[in-house]
Amino acid sequence: MTNQLRPRRSCLAVPGSSQKFIDKARTLNSDQIFLDLEDACAPLAKPGARKTIVAALNEGGWGEKIRVVRVNDWTTEWTYRDVTEVVEGAGANLDAIMLPKVQTPEQVVALDLLLTQIEKSLGYEVGRIGIEAQIENALGLINVDKIATASPRVETIIFGPADFMASINMKSLVVGEQPPGYDVGDAYHHILMSILMAARAHDKQAIDGPFLQIRDVEAFTRVAGRSAALGYDGKWVLHPGQIDAANETFSPTQKDYDHAENILDAYEYFTSEAGGKKGSAMIGDEMIDEASRKMALVISGKGRAAGMERTDKWTPPES
Ligand code: GLV
Ligand code: MG
Repeated sequence: MTNQLRPRRSCLAVPGSSQKFIDKARTLNSDQIFLDLEDACAPLAKPGARKTIVAALNEGGWGEKIRVVRVNDWTTEWTYRDVTEVVEGAGANLDAIMLPKVQTPEQVVALDLLLTQIEKSLGYEVGRIGIEAQIENALGLINVDKIATASPRVETIIFGPADFMASINMKSLVVGEQPPGYDVGDAYHHILMSILMAARAHDKQAIDGPFLQIRDVEAFTRVAGRSAALGYDGKWVLHPGQIDAANETFSPTQKDYDHAENILDAYEYFTSEAGGKKGSAMIGDEMIDEASRKMALVISGKGRAAGMERTDKWTPPES
């Protein structure tokens, strides 16, 4: 399965400077981990964290998890060293680099070129290491479509709500919740949808960012449920307690999964010679057609990627 198709329902943030959190992360059941060199890592701790991260990746023990490292953004003095040290030291044991605060497609191209040189010089397959682009300010959002297509390495587009809220002067300090005073809709709808459109237009995954009230799993589930309902593939998790909620929220329910698989079977049968070559047909009380098949494919794809099994099987009518 390529990285683009692998589930990223839960993307666990792990400070790259903390051996304790890194060791704990290995034992958790998130779909992805990202070892952070950016905001969860103090400036003075960054050089040491690069070494800790290289060792942690090379030691292994990550199972099926997608292994990502978040480097610092291109406006700092740290990015090139983050990338060269981590990829030269552990490129074979790394799936993607997460680039925060992406504002222009050129910033993605710069990372792509650097990765390509490192891969060539070390004899690695060129292009295997992916890029996860975080959208965290107004310019990044305006350019999101071009950012998504700036390099074939781009696998995901990620919403970074904390930095985004700060960058647009949103009057709130509670990341992920609605800003007080805005009582006429969802203040994040435009941002979430713009990222989702760019992701879907170009076959990338769309990932929602962190929810900082880490002890309130109910609120996490409510907020995650919104982006999951729109079509997002997953969300960041900052605490072990958020992982199961994310995995569940971004998987189909058993009922929807069974129904989707049944629609696919029924539609295949009814469009076949034996089923009467029909363009539309009935499954129970519901009419299905080609559009129903496409919707069912989305749900069944997510369920299969999450390892779900059918508990109900449609059978053709007796003729
Ligand atoms: C994540 O990086 C955020 O800013 O929300
Ligand atoms: Mg951020």
